[in-house]
Amino acid sequence: MRNDFDKAMHFRHACKLFDTTKPMSNEDLTFILEAGRLSPSSFGMEQWQFFVIRDTAMREAIKAVAWNQPQITTASELIAIGYKKKVRSTDTYIQNQFDHFHFPEPLRQLYANWIDPYSDEKLDCWSSRQVYIAAANMMTAGASIGIDSCPIEGFDRDAVEKIMGIDTETYGIPVLIPFGYRVKEQPQLHRSELSDIVTYI
Ligand SMILES: Cc1cc2nc3c(=O)[nH]c(=O)nc-3n(C[C@H](O)[C@H](O)[C@H](O)COP(=O)(O)O)c2cc1C
Repeated sequence: MRNDFDKAMHFRHACKLFDTTKPMSNEDLTFILEAGRLSPSSFGMEQWQFFVIRDTAMREAIKAVAWNQPQITTASELIAIGYKKKVRSTDTYIQNQFDHFHFPEPLRQLYANWIDPYSDEKLDCWSSRQVYIAAANMMTAGASIGIDSCPIEGFDRDAVEKIMGIDTETYGIPVLIPFGYRVKEQPQLHRSELSDIVTYI
């Protein structure tokens, strides 16, 4: 198991170009989405929404506002991971989650006391952070079955949200992840040494 995980970590790289002739199976897509679904989130609120963008014209339009990055249109699947914005304790989505997971009253109170005073900006920041945990798991899950990916933040967010036609009062899109199969060999992985980045206190 340790070897399998290590292999996936070394297989994954930020793939810049995908093989347009090699579609991934729906089964593999579901495997990757499941990794997102099973990811941890603050209070278990699952503050995410996974948009699988298959519309070719929409992908072209997104590419045009994403530094023309070829990953957007060459990938077999493009997933925009959205975070939920209406996540105060009184919002319907959160009320439903509380009920669904049978949150006891003290935990609802803790959530309300902790989250509700956040400014809109801080709330957005908190909610969008959860998305990156799912994103990392999805990319590693993909790598574990030989599927490449590339996290993408290099895009005009307002433009992408408009192109997708999402309700921006409800969702924000901080990251796009194309998935598919590489065309080129992956470059050498560059990372700092553990001794440079780990501090034992
Ligand atoms: C949040 C985030 C945003 C990124 N945005 C882009 C992007 O817009 N375009 C791109 O080609 N790579 C993007 N990357 C990939 C990084 O540049 C890459 O992961 C880093 O250079 C390390 O390379 P590696 O992933 O191949 O090991 C992004 C990575 C992260 C984590």
